[in-house]
Amino acid sequence: MSAMWISILLIVPIVVQSQDPLSSQIQSAFTKGQTTNLHLTKGEQLPFNTKITAIGSNFDNGTFVCQTPGLYSFTFYGLTEKNWELWLEMMKNDELIASIYAYTYADYADAGNAAILHLNAGDRVYLKAHDDYDQTLYGADGEIYTTFTGELLFADDTELDAVNSYGAVGFSAVMTLNASISDGSAVIYDKAITNLGSGYDATTGTFTAPVEGTYVFHFHALSHSDEEAWLELFHNTQYVVASYGYTSGSYADSGNSAVIHLKRGDTVKVKARPGTDVKLYGDMDEYYTTFCGALLSPTVHGQGHGGQQEVAFSVGLTHNEGSSNGPKVVFDRVFSNLGQSFDINTGTFTAPVSGVYAFHYHVLAQSGQEAWVELYHNYVYVNSLYGHTSGSYGPGSNSAVLELVAGDTVYLDIKHHTSFLYGGGDEVYSTFSGYLLFPVASHHPVVG
Ligand SMILES: *[C@@H]1O[C@H](CO)[C@@H](O)[C@H](O)[C@H]1NC(C)=O
Ligand SMILES: *[C@@H]1O[C@H](CO)[C@@H](O)[C@H](O)[C@H]1NC(C)=O
Repeated sequence: MSAMWISILLIVPIVVQSQDPLSSQIQSAFTKGQTTNLHLTKGEQLPFNTKITAIGSNFDNGTFVCQTPGLYSFTFYGLTEKNWELWLEMMKNDELIASIYAYTYADYADAGNAAILHLNAGDRVYLKAHDDYDQTLYGADGEIYTTFTGELLFADDTELDAVNSYGAVGFSAVMTLNASISDGSAVIYDKAITNLGSGYDATTGTFTAPVEGTYVFHFHALSHSDEEAWLELFHNTQYVVASYGYTSGSYADSGNSAVIHLKRGDTVKVKARPGTDVKLYGDMDEYYTTFCGALLSPTVHGQGHGGQQEVAFSVGLTHNEGSSNGPKVVFDRVFSNLGQSFDINTGTFTAPVSGVYAFHYHVLAQSGQEAWVELYHNYVYVNSLYGHTSGSYGPGSNSAVLELVAGDTVYLDIKHHTSFLYGGGDEVYSTFSGYLLFPVASHHPVVG
């Protein structure tokens, strides 16, 4: 009798974990988008008119309201209407988390940012126009550039903490000072907004992995007017990816992301490109230049958390690529491919299990050219980036979380518009990264 009870108690948690209703109370992921032009008056909150994905997350009139306390990742992107400025801020309650600014004379201009935040129940995260500026963002059907994505990475007080004595690991740091770097040294993001696991050192700009596992990193920068922001992400002494921004007569936004596997004690930092004068914009109340990262899945006896299958990929482009070469962007450098679900020959990710996945993509257009790249889920359009800066290289970025069924494909498409992407052996600006956030039980009955 007692043996039977024990076996039931042991089985129940496993069954519960694989079922939809309970896990969707804990899980939380969303992507909002804008399919029309949007005029914002000073200080106005972005309402967003389209829901791309909504899993267990609660939105109240454009504001994400936290239901499940834990560590979250947020990314947001915007594209100006032609010849307009955009100047947006991501807020947590009344606290500034990140700023973006974009303007290119007589052109559209793209900007984005990211943050890793620890939220308590009831905390609100939203985007608003800067209090000093009216602005107009560009959007149309099939042209979603302005997006807001959030995802729960680790819930507080779950069984996940039991498999990793560190629990969640994540940091988010911003630069509150102007910086001029000409010796290739590290960028020092002097203010840490989040530092769970204490991996980030705000005096050196270095993140040191407190535990082995797969991590995601994002970095974004705004150059001073008429100056370059040319930054490179390093894993220990290994170059990984870079960002480049320069706009004649204006400030230039650029950024990138990568998913990499770190051993305990490995370091990750952002450095200025050697041999260039990098001039980054920072101020006490304008956080454009940021660096953040988080543990996706700690390695525990060779497995991801909770014994869950680890699925994550991150790839980059080390050659020039154009839409004349084919419908999909075909990447040629692999930073990670856990689960072997990304096919480097076709540029296509195929979901090995049904679940909710996050995707981040960035490109740099060749000098004076356009990059117009679209994210596809099977044959369905999700969102886009647009990069073009006359007389210079044009960065663009976007991201989304998507609910996929096993076998679904996700890829970057360049067939609908002319695109010229830039890349080189030590110039990896164009990247595509994705990872499984959590599996979703298939609709087959549990047989056992
Ligand atoms: C929703 O947000 C918009 C834009 O910020 C605002 O004008 C409106 O009053 C809000 N509505 C509610 C019910 O809070
Ligand atoms: C950074 O430079 C800008 C433009 O020159 C200036 O307005 C701002 O106050 C500077 N920030 C700091 C912290 O000195």
